[in-house]
Amino acid sequence: MRTQVGILGAGPAGLTLAMLLHREDIDCVVLETRDRAYVEKRVRAGLLEQNTVDLLRELGVAERLDREGLEHNGIYLRHGGVNHYIDMTALTGRHITIYGQQEVVKDLTNALLSRGVPIHFEVGETNLHDLESESPRITYEREGEILELTCDAIAGCDGFHGVSRPTIGEHLTEYEYVYPFGWLGILAEARPATDELIYAWHERGFALYTMRSQSISRLYLQVPADEDIENWPDDRIWHELKTRLGSVNEGKIFDKGITPMRSFVAEPMQYGRLFLAGDSAHIVPPTGAKGLNLAVNDVRLLAPALAGLIKNGSTRRADGYTTAALRRVWRAQDFSNYMTQMLHDLGGGPFQRQLQLARLGYVAHSEAAAHSLAENYVGLPAEPEF
Ligand code: FAD
Ligand code: PHB
Repeated sequence: MRTQVGILGAGPAGLTLAMLLHREDIDCVVLETRDRAYVEKRVRAGLLEQNTVDLLRELGVAERLDREGLEHNGIYLRHGGVNHYIDMTALTGRHITIYGQQEVVKDLTNALLSRGVPIHFEVGETNLHDLESESPRITYEREGEILELTCDAIAGCDGFHGVSRPTIGEHLTEYEYVYPFGWLGILAEARPATDELIYAWHERGFALYTMRSQSISRLYLQVPADEDIENWPDDRIWHELKTRLGSVNEGKIFDKGITPMRSFVAEPMQYGRLFLAGDSAHIVPPTGAKGLNLAVNDVRLLAPALAGLIKNGSTRRADGYTTAALRRVWRAQDFSNYMTQMLHDLGGGPFQRQLQLARLGYVAHSEAAAHSLAENYVGLPAEPEF
């Protein structure tokens, strides 16, 4: 089998790239290890930058997002039992939208399949070959058969645990910091007790109040990295959330899990005809809500690079892809790290807590400090073509 771009991974990066390539009349095939139901149910991100929403609109896949997404204008930073509002729209003229990542994935999957773009779920044993040639290949197993897909280029959108990055590992420099804590996240059938997201600093650790709709709440608690979810029966979770967040509406918990936190960047994001995009190349701690948005920005840059390569044999944009993508990635790394350091119990004792409170007080009372936080949080304007 032959296609122009073989895409590994049907997450936000892979699916958005497939839509962008389809718009350019470039053929692609998406290969995904999990089944469709699993991918469409996997609970992850929820906060979309305006850049991301604008691109999904441009691609014609935002009809339900425009109907069901919750537009937000700011966030509360909570400390000392008081919520301080950062009015991001007033400060930047931009806003953010709450819409679950799995809903984005469902919308993209439906749009691609209805346009005849193939997505093969439940493939196994994916391996990459001849990456230095002009005809790289993917071999994989599907329904018991070993198949081979010859491409002009391969996009490794297979997330942090995929095969793309390890395949070219010896050609990469990797930067990593693993935090000694993670987030316990729940989804609950409960009306959110807040109009905007609350990022709470508390002596017992960070908590975040977010939502998916008027009737579904999403809440997170900082817990030790090696924490066992079995130690957290529902009543303990609600008690801790109330302690850290003040007022919380309770409801039936229908999803519960612990996510470890890391900062990670692999550089460059290309080797030969393999290009990495999204979590396969970089991870940010979720405190800045940047992961999905970075994945979408990567493929916004990658699509024209691949188009130049495939349609005109021009390597100019392909050669500039890493530099263009990593500029935003490192900015987001710094911002996500800043938010994480400001809000979590870092184990540094009273001196560190006082520094955090000084930082939070500065953001609450200085428009310059609030503006800096706001422009990063809502997403710096997408860079023009490179
Ligand atoms: P993924 O979504 O991981 O997709 C990769 C896909 O590749 C998966 O479907 C996987 O099954 C598949 N795959 C793996 N191996 C292979 C293989 N060998 N062959 C083929 N397919 C393969 N980001 C935000 O922007 N805002 C937020 O509010 C936010 N909150 C978050 C909260 C939590 C709790 C977590 C865990 C993450 C959050 N993120 C957030 C981060 C965001 O979810 C990720 O950055 C995003 O999923 C990255 O998309 P991706 O397409 O690069 O990777
Ligand atoms: C979410 O809604 O899941 C969410 C929102 C903001 C974050 C992280 C996660 O910073």
